[in-house]
Amino acid sequence: MNALIETIEVVVGEAEGGTADTRVLKLVRLDGQPLPAYRPGAHVDVYLPDGLVRQYSLCGPNPQAPDYRIAVKRSSESRGGSEWLCSHAGNGSRLRIGMPRHAFGVNDMASHHILVAGGIGVTPILSMAYALQASGKSYQFEYFVRSDADTVFRNEIMASSLAAQTRIHPALAPQAVRERIARVLAASKAQSHLYVCGPAALMQSTAEQARGVLGDANVHMEAFAPPALPAAGERGFAVMLDTCGKTVEVPSGKSVLACLREAGHEIESSCEVGVCGTCMMRVIEGEPDHRDSYLTDDERMAGTYFIPCVSRSKSPVLVLASDP
Ligand code: FES
Repeated sequence: MNALIETIEVVVGEAEGGTADTRVLKLVRLDGQPLPAYRPGAHVDVYLPDGLVRQYSLCGPNPQAPDYRIAVKRSSESRGGSEWLCSHAGNGSRLRIGMPRHAFGVNDMASHHILVAGGIGVTPILSMAYALQASGKSYQFEYFVRSDADTVFRNEIMASSLAAQTRIHPALAPQAVRERIARVLAASKAQSHLYVCGPAALMQSTAEQARGVLGDANVHMEAFAPPALPAAGERGFAVMLDTCGKTVEVPSGKSVLACLREAGHEIESSCEVGVCGTCMMRVIEGEPDHRDSYLTDDERMAGTYFIPCVSRSKSPVLVLASDP
């Protein structure tokens, strides 16, 4: 496990709200202590057997609760993590999770919040809806699903105080979704912010429509999808490890991680597409060109960490360390 990453051991339990292909799990800290509070929209990294690391949004109604709730959808495209959690994690299974990470959340300056979820993308959106409801803020929740039977947390939402602001849309074709979003945007107030999480096509189309009406800064997406890998033709640079003082050249089209490994350095990794943080290193000197989806905006601004499987360097030399 990467020594720069703080983890907590938890015990898995079953929770309500799932569907035929979605399991809802409760995570309780093994030592009996409360888990850290989080901000609505946060996610945690879940460390699975075989070194897999996957990201799951925290979707409980109360971010101060002592335990966490996540929802896991079984997917034919699963790269292993969700499949293991759906099929093999039992009541009492032990797992390690990272600290809550806040890359998505509500903007406190918004006059109105438009929450848009598609399928399992409801998870970060649900905790945001609960928070907006609890604080008396103006919001609406548009939830697109395949069918009523496939609606995660349907009963809970419709029996809760969220029901009045929520519209669940089963089985809409993409064009009908666009029309619904267009009507929502046409009726939106000045300084509304829109947040979307769900399948890539829904996110892209909704974000595109919303940017045209609300402006780029007022549109927010949660995507755990891998970013583009370094393209050939980009400028090369050098990386120096402060532990040994050796310099390694990183040519265009090749990752820092691959170059360091070829030079004989052992660096842990899991996803190798910049989403899990397993390969994270510390920046000693130089200016990173962050390409990952793991670091938060604050961490990028601070320039303290670097994700070598996808990120590059703006400075000709980047000095890195792999210990805390
Ligand atoms: S290995 Fe997952 S972010 Fe680098």
